[in-house]
Amino acid sequence: MDLAAAADLSQDHIDVTAVLDQLVSGADASAATTIGYPGAVDVNYDAVLSRLGSRLWNNIGDPSDAGGIAHTRVLERAVVAWMADLFAMPPGDRWGYVTTGGTEGNLAALYAAGRRYATARIFYSRAAHYSIPKLVRVLGAHGVPVAADERGEMDYHDLATQLHRRKRYPAIVVATAGTTLTEAVDDTARIRDLLAAHPGGGHLHVDAALSGIPLGLDGRLRLDDAAGIGSIAVSGHKVFGTPVPCGVVLVGDTVRAPGQPVAYTGTSDTTISGSRCGLAAALLWHAIAVQGREGHRWRVVHARELATYAVARITAIGWHAWRHDHAMTVVLDTPPAEVRTRWVLATEGPVSHLICMPGITRTQIDAFVADLAAAIPRPTAPRPRTPADSIGLITTTH
Ligand SMILES: Cc1ncc(COP(=O)(O)O)c(C=O)c1O
Repeated sequence: MDLAAAADLSQDHIDVTAVLDQLVSGADASAATTIGYPGAVDVNYDAVLSRLGSRLWNNIGDPSDAGGIAHTRVLERAVVAWMADLFAMPPGDRWGYVTTGGTEGNLAALYAAGRRYATARIFYSRAAHYSIPKLVRVLGAHGVPVAADERGEMDYHDLATQLHRRKRYPAIVVATAGTTLTEAVDDTARIRDLLAAHPGGGHLHVDAALSGIPLGLDGRLRLDDAAGIGSIAVSGHKVFGTPVPCGVVLVGDTVRAPGQPVAYTGTSDTTISGSRCGLAAALLWHAIAVQGREGHRWRVVHARELATYAVARITAIGWHAWRHDHAMTVVLDTPPAEVRTRWVLATEGPVSHLICMPGITRTQIDAFVADLAAAIPRPTAPRPRTPADSIGLITTTH
C-alpha cells in the first residue's frame, strides 16, 4: 500500500486502521537496522502511555508558579530538580523547564543570556549543532563561528583570537557536550577561563543534547559555582528514549529574565512555548523514577562498552573506526551507499557514525559488521610469484 495515498485526507473513505498499522509495521521493520540516530530503545513507557496517553496534559507557563493550568507540573518540577541535582547546580540559583527538545532548550538559554547581555556576540564551534547558527539568526544576534579540530572539539586558540577581536562586547559562548557527528565534548573549564579574562564579560551555555546526562552521571559535567556555566540544554528522547521528543533546559536563576504575568493563564510567561507538553514531563519523570541514577549510569556504561566492541569489530575487518573515550558514538569512514542506507547511518561526506544507544545489541553490531565486510573490497593476499610473471605471460586485471 502506498502510505501517502492511503493517508490522503481528500479521499471520501480513509482506512485509518490500515494507515496506522502500516506506520507501525514500517517502524518495526526498520528498528533492527536503525543504529545511526541517538534514540535509546530500552526504556518501556507503556505504563505512562496506557494511563495518560488519551488525555490532554498541558503545563502552561512557568513550572515554578502555583497558578494556572498545571496538569503534570508537579512531575515537571521533580524532573527539573533531579536534573539540577545531577549537574550539581547551586540549590539557590537554579531554574528550568521541560522543553520540546534540545533546540528549544538552546533557544531559551540563549534568549535569557541575550536579555542579560544585550550586545553580546554569540560564539559557537563549527562542529556545533545546526540549530545554533539558526537560533542566532532568530534572536537577531551576531554569531561568531569558531574553528573545531578534526575530532570535533572546539579550537580554544581560535576562540581566544575571536574573543580578543571583539573584546568590547560581552560574549555568549556555546560549548557542545556531544557534537552531532563525533560526540566531541568541548572543555568548559578552558572556555570559562577565557571568558573570565574577557573584558566584556559574558555567559557560558552548554548544548548537552546528547552527552549531558551521561557526563552528568559520571560527575564530569557540573554546573556548580566553580564551573562558570550559566545554562545547559539536554534532550530527553536521546538517552532516555522517550517516545515524544522533549528536553530540559536549566538556567541559573540569576540569569533568567523575569517573565510577564499573564492574567488569563494565571502564570508568568517565562517559557518559549506557551502550551507545553505535560505528557513529556510525565515520560521523563517515569524514566527517572523507574531507573534512578544508578540504573541510568549502568545503561550508559553498557552503551559505551558496546561502542568499544563496535570499534574493535569494524577495525578488525580493515575499516577505519574510532570513538572518543566517553562516547557511545562510533565514527567511521563512510561505508558504501547500500550499507549506509540500510543501516540509516548519519553521514557527512567521508565520515559516518553509528551510535550504540542503550538498547542497541551486539547482535545488531555483528550484523552491521558482516554487511560492511561483504560490501567493501577485500584486501587481496599477494599471489606467489611464478616464473611466468617475469616473462610477461600473466596479465592481471583489476
Ligand atoms: C548537539 C545537539 N544540539 C541540539 C540538538 C537538537 O536537539 P533536538 O532535535 O532535540 O531539538 C541536537 C540533535 O541532534 C544535537 O545533537
